Amino acid sequence: MTNRNSHPPFAAGNWKMHLASGEAARLASEIVKGAADAAGAELVLIPPFTSLDSVRRVVADSSVALGAQNMHWEDKGAFTGEVSPLMVKDAGCRYVVIGHSERRHLFGETDGGVNKKIKAALRTDLTPIFCLGETLEERQSGRTIDRIESQLIAGLEGLDGESVSKIVMAYEPVWAIGTGRTATPAQAQEVHGQLRGALSERYGKQDADCVIILYGGSVKPDNAFSLFREKDIDGFLVGGASLEASSFLRIAKEALRAHKEKP
Ligand code: 13P
Repeated sequence: MTNRNSHPPFAAGNWKMHLASGEAARLASEIVKGAADAAGAELVLIPPFTSLDSVRRVVADSSVALGAQNMHWEDKGAFTGEVSPLMVKDAGCRYVVIGHSERRHLFGETDGGVNKKIKAALRTDLTPIFCLGETLEERQSGRTIDRIESQLIAGLEGLDGESVSKIVMAYEPVWAIGTGRTATPAQAQEVHGQLRGALSERYGKQDADCVIILYGGSVKPDNAFSLFREKDIDGFLVGGASLEASSFLRIAKEALRAHKEKP
């Protein structure tokens, strides 16, 4: 894997449960048209399952990549309502979001399930975007770092450094998701730095330095620059602001601008 410092700024749009196939294709095509202005950034679109195919057709032959929002860890079987890693791959995805806080908090996903999904993604040659983050209550009671580290350790259980180096991580404080409340650049950097340190301790600096760590939680065009300037923030996982081509592209452009000023 390449060192994250030589990796382009990363902007992924998690469209959550928005946009049926026609609307999704329209938004994707606006983003593909504008992508030249954000050349040098890695753009990933993550529509709902039912819109993957229409978005895949639009992004084919462009530099924009496709991701899925979730998947099961088994390749096939009697799992009504689930989608397998092979199906996600077959739909044209390069990335898959694993352990998003909405899955953890609203649908009961556990650290153990997250670990199985990360392993399944890696064996299917999909890049997992492994999400973790603390709740407001955990932050207010001073348990942020403990919570993050326990999610990290459980999520990566049984993986070696080479596998871990292929993962994209996303720090998404639960209290900042969809609330308009963003972590300050210093708060985000503190956690990203801790994550990088914990990865380095467990897997060695070389592999830890390959892991791209995204920030997510009310990222907007006007806070992207100051967040991205922080040392250990390599890009963004964007929710609400990714539903409009202009704001998503502006976030990518702000990241590119900040990339040049990185310490
Ligand atoms: P918002 O950008 O809407 O806060 O959502 C963040 C998120 O959950 C991305 O996965």
